[in-house]
Amino acid sequence: MVNKRGNYPHSRNSLATKLFPRKLTLYSITVYAILLFAFSIFIFIFYGKDIFQHEQMKPLSSEGSQSQQLPDSKLWGAPHHYGLRPCVKPTAKYKATQGWDRYMTVRSNGGLNQMRTGISDMVAVARIMNATLVIPQLDKRSFWQDSSTFSDVFDELHFTTSLQGDVRIVKELPKELEHVPRARKHFTSWSGMSYYEELTHLWKDYQVVHVVKSDSRLANNDLPVDIQRLRCRALYYALRFSPSIDNLGKKLVERLRSRGGRYIALHLRYEKDMLSFTGCTHGLTDVESEELRIMRENTNHWKMKKINSTEQRKGGFCPLTPEEVGIFLQALGYPPSTLIYIAAGEIYGGHIHLLDLTSRFPNVVFKETVASQDELKAFSNHASQTAALDYIISVESDVFIPSYSGNMARAVEGHRRFLGHRKTITPDRKGLVEVFDKMEAGQLEEGTLVSYLVMQLHKNRFLDVL
Ligand SMILES: *[C@@H]1O[C@H](CO)[C@@H](O)[C@H](O)[C@H]1NC(C)=O
Ligand SMILES: *[C@@H]1O[C@H](CO)[C@@H](O)[C@H](O)[C@H]1NC(C)=O
Repeated sequence: MVNKRGNYPHSRNSLATKLFPRKLTLYSITVYAILLFAFSIFIFIFYGKDIFQHEQMKPLSSEGSQSQQLPDSKLWGAPHHYGLRPCVKPTAKYKATQGWDRYMTVRSNGGLNQMRTGISDMVAVARIMNATLVIPQLDKRSFWQDSSTFSDVFDELHFTTSLQGDVRIVKELPKELEHVPRARKHFTSWSGMSYYEELTHLWKDYQVVHVVKSDSRLANNDLPVDIQRLRCRALYYALRFSPSIDNLGKKLVERLRSRGGRYIALHLRYEKDMLSFTGCTHGLTDVESEELRIMRENTNHWKMKKINSTEQRKGGFCPLTPEEVGIFLQALGYPPSTLIYIAAGEIYGGHIHLLDLTSRFPNVVFKETVASQDELKAFSNHASQTAALDYIISVESDVFIPSYSGNMARAVEGHRRFLGHRKTITPDRKGLVEVFDKMEAGQLEEGTLVSYLVMQLHKNRFLDVL
């Protein structure tokens, strides 16, 4: 031991040297023993949980037809937070905005969640560029054809007042500036701070900059901490939904709770446009596959036209099918009585494809079954408003499971972390497909072994509860 230490001359005067004197006296031997003992207790406590976990997940036999029971806390409890907490408060050196006399107008683009992140970024950009932000226009031309205005979807007053120390926000351009020439900008995607600082040269020639698309995304790296925090404040705090959406959303959450106590929000991306875009036709009929192919062919801004569904699926690029979600949830050990709220648009093939899920989990509900027709009337034909309802119900759920990655999945997962590390289970689609394919080929029978394999795949994705 002494020799070993000799290899590290720098540590001579370190704490270690003091703790381990050269001469082994009775005293130091006792100290070693105590330290060793304490260390092993520590290791035992620290890893004991894992060993226990492992024991629980070992398959008892491959023939068992029942999933093993995970403790309730693992199925429903919040994951470990590792000491991470939201930090959105400005630092001490952050200065209040001066209310600039130059303006930024923004046309927001994409679906609800893309617009939300885009708008939060534009708040930060307005701050960097020392501009006054005009309430953004929402996308009316996209796939969703939604005529909603900003105040239909968001609480405009709250947005303006909660950011008043950060950026001045006005409802409209001042009258005298309505017709002045504007600089039209397509911001370069993933630009950092310096890009936007340089763009302030525009103020020499223009008093209004018009941002054509809001989804250019600020780079995540090397942003000053106060700009990062401002983005978070804008996204998670300032961009609250309008009172009518918020009220109905909360009412529906209460209704779900009174029904089942706890519920899973499943973002089931099994919609026609999604399947057509990704070219995922696994389990569909030839007629359905052809319909999806034609839709893809006719949608100009989708660049990928020829897609091999098999390869796409193997790569983990397909949304899980309703049946696959059913197998997945059952394998994780959720009981058949579990209440599942489907946060999604229209499921492709409707009832027929959903049957593959509801045969395992009969308590599947939609906003159409939780809310009355009357309640939903004001929202129909407004995709971003119905998406907002799904968003609220998903954020408030006990467990959130996205069947595919995307703007909504990421936004909701992030928001749930922000609000206190609520549980999100992101399926390992690539790994799961291997399991499903083995089942389909008859090499693997549903039951304990499948359950074990699925849990192994997701050990680090949701089992690390408190
Ligand atoms: C914005 O205004 C502040 C305060 O006057 C100034 O310090 C900063 O350099 C300005 N930023 C840019 C990018 O011009
Ligand atoms: C798609 O890919 C799979 C696996 O690579 C291959 O076996 C199959 O022949 C391909 N299908 C078509 C239509 O090209």
